[in-house]
Amino acid sequence: MKAKLPQINLLMSVTGKCNLACSYCYVNKKSDVNMPENLLENITKKALNEFKKVIFIWHGTEPTMRGIDFFKSAVEFQKKYSFNNEIENQIQTNLTLFDKNWIKFAKDSGFMVNFSYDGKNANELTRPGSTKQIFNNLSLLQAEGIFPSCNVVISQTNINNLIDINNELTKEHNVSFYMNPAYNYHNKKTSIFIPAEKYAEAVNNMFNYWFNDQNASNTAQNKLCQSLLTSILRIKGVENGKYVAQPASSYNKCTFNHCYGKFLGVLENGLVYPCDNFISEKSCLGHVSSVENLSDFFRKDEFNNLIRSYHKTNEECMQICKWYQLCNSGCPSHTRGKRKDPLCRAYQKIFSNVKSIVDNKIFGK
Ligand SMILES: C[S@@+](CC[C@H](N)C(=O)[O-])C[C@H]1O[C@@H](n2cnc3c(N)ncnc32)[C@H](O)[C@@H]1O
Ligand code: SF4
Ligand code: SF4
Repeated sequence: MKAKLPQINLLMSVTGKCNLACSYCYVNKKSDVNMPENLLENITKKALNEFKKVIFIWHGTEPTMRGIDFFKSAVEFQKKYSFNNEIENQIQTNLTLFDKNWIKFAKDSGFMVNFSYDGKNANELTRPGSTKQIFNNLSLLQAEGIFPSCNVVISQTNINNLIDINNELTKEHNVSFYMNPAYNYHNKKTSIFIPAEKYAEAVNNMFNYWFNDQNASNTAQNKLCQSLLTSILRIKGVENGKYVAQPASSYNKCTFNHCYGKFLGVLENGLVYPCDNFISEKSCLGHVSSVENLSDFFRKDEFNNLIRSYHKTNEECMQICKWYQLCNSGCPSHTRGKRKDPLCRAYQKIFSNVKSIVDNKIFGK
């Protein structure tokens, strides 16, 4: 029997439906298309046959709109096709429909839950109609011993309140969270998206607060600040004016981590992309049923063209940038194989701020 490859992270969009209309949402076209169960079975079988560890990241549009029975089948298919596999299930949801039945399912099946929320004042602007249900369902989850993580999107509505959001989530609600900037994937004409400079300034303010916070929660974490700190602590020295760092340890983080070849985004219709943020005609790798093994997608011309232009960006960054070994050219879904990550200036300012704090406060330089 062929040895299995180490790991794949599958971003599974299982339906085109959503019950919300968030102002920045990158899902351009919502639809009534549901992923059929035979397609789910096909992907599960291929993934477990080829990879030792498979992380299913159940995404959408809104995954709960696909219905709980679909996910019960997902677990059954995983049992049917698993042979010495390590399997993880994570569901990314707006949480509004996550009622008692879903909570029981998550508990019984070990699904990790990650929800979206943008902070006290912003959430009703960016994710209208969701706040009350989010907190209702969050309390029900926590009462059952499930402590979901949160994804906060940074936009014009909350850019000045990142410290408040840190305190609200970690101290009032015992929720760990990550933050990502709202990214304008479809060139929408709206002021919701923020410029790189402003993003850097807000993250730096939050980092400085977080680093010195004497009353931080012992249980809930600010994962953005933690990962920035960990990145800087990976630095081993300097060569030719550039920082040399230990490789990052995690395999399923995306930005700053050479994600190509570690993720696949599968749409509800079975079409496959390098990531679910990276949906375009040029980046489509084909249909799940068109390959024998999922790794065949990484040998397709479409994938190699993307990799080639990504490597070109990598080479340019490597020449000019002292942060390259921490940043790895940022997120390929931002560059779309054409140019440098538009948040480049922000990344440099953020790394620089964290490095000076670490040097000063940890190493006493
Ligand atoms: C597209 S949603 C799908 C899952 C689910 N419906 C939810 O809202 O959590 C996945 C995540 O992407 C975030 N997101 C949506 N549009 C974005 C954008 N333009 N830039 C950055 N993050 C975005 C959402 O807030 C959510 O946390
Ligand atoms: S809930 Fe998720 S999929 Fe639906 S509009 Fe909001 S971000 Fe988009
Ligand atoms: S900070 Fe900018 S120049 Fe440096 S590696 Fe990242 S994207 Fe490239």
